[in-house]
Amino acid sequence: MLTNFLKRTILIGATVFVSVCSQFQGNYYQKQQYQSSGDCPQPNGTFPTSTCDGYIQCINGIPEEKLCPDGLLFNPESGPRSFPCQYPVDVDCTGRERTQPPQATDECPHQFGYYKIGDEQNCGQFKNCVDGRSFIFDCPEGLAWNSASYRCDWPDQVSDCNAEAYLGFTCPSDARQFGFGAEEYRFFRSPNDCQRYFICIDSKPRLYNCGEGKAFNDLSNTCDDPENVTGCALPQNSQFRGSSKLAQYYNKNLYKN
Ligand SMILES: *[C@@H]1O[C@H](CO)[C@@H](O)[C@H](O)[C@H]1NC(C)=O
Ligand SMILES: *[C@@H]1O[C@H](CO)[C@@H](O)[C@H](O)[C@H]1NC(C)=O
Repeated sequence: MLTNFLKRTILIGATVFVSVCSQFQGNYYQKQQYQSSGDCPQPNGTFPTSTCDGYIQCINGIPEEKLCPDGLLFNPESGPRSFPCQYPVDVDCTGRERTQPPQATDECPHQFGYYKIGDEQNCGQFKNCVDGRSFIFDCPEGLAWNSASYRCDWPDQVSDCNAEAYLGFTCPSDARQFGFGAEEYRFFRSPNDCQRYFICIDSKPRLYNCGEGKAFNDLSNTCDDPENVTGCALPQNSQFRGSSKLAQYYNKNLYKN
């Protein structure tokens, strides 16, 4: 649910800033790239060219060559009233793969877009680039930025994230796979934090949080009152394993009773 919310937030944000920059018109490399700019298939509308970020805008049968802001791509499926340049995840470039050269800045690989920050051990942050300036966001706890789907995702689903290193938990080798029978589930209380627990799926951990004032009871495999969970009355005198940002976060927020 959080990820859906996040995605929606991103899309809303995108609509706002995209309409702000819709006057933007690249003039770079336009000349020889377009082949069929002479005709308008219909009097009004936007139409694809041989490149993925160029398009023809027709108004009353008069064509004009346009170029999407760097990092965005022309979506022929966009509705007549929406700005036709969209994020790569929403656009199919088959047959028109070429784009303008990237206009990278110190902060951003393209002027616009969402990009991963960090390495495979630190997967939880991403940045939104707007006009070449970056704005940094955190995924909800335990989730990792997935550049392929443009959303925060389970770290085991993100190809350039090492779920064990990021979450600071390695699934025991006898952990069974997630399944439908009760026997197949394996839960593991976080070694140093009673509030959190892991589920191992295909031997990769996913982090869950019981929430404030609850502790994971590994006898009943449920979130319970801390009083009912042995060893959880006080934070243990040890640090969450791992050196990732998330581990540091845990160390600052150990379960307080
Ligand atoms: C095209 O757009 C113009 C201006 O927005 C409008 O006046 C005209 O009626 C439209 N033509 C068609 C065929 O929809
Ligand atoms: C502990 O567990 C018992 C039953 O197992 C339950 O009735 C009780 O509400 C739980 N919480 C506390 C604080 O005892």
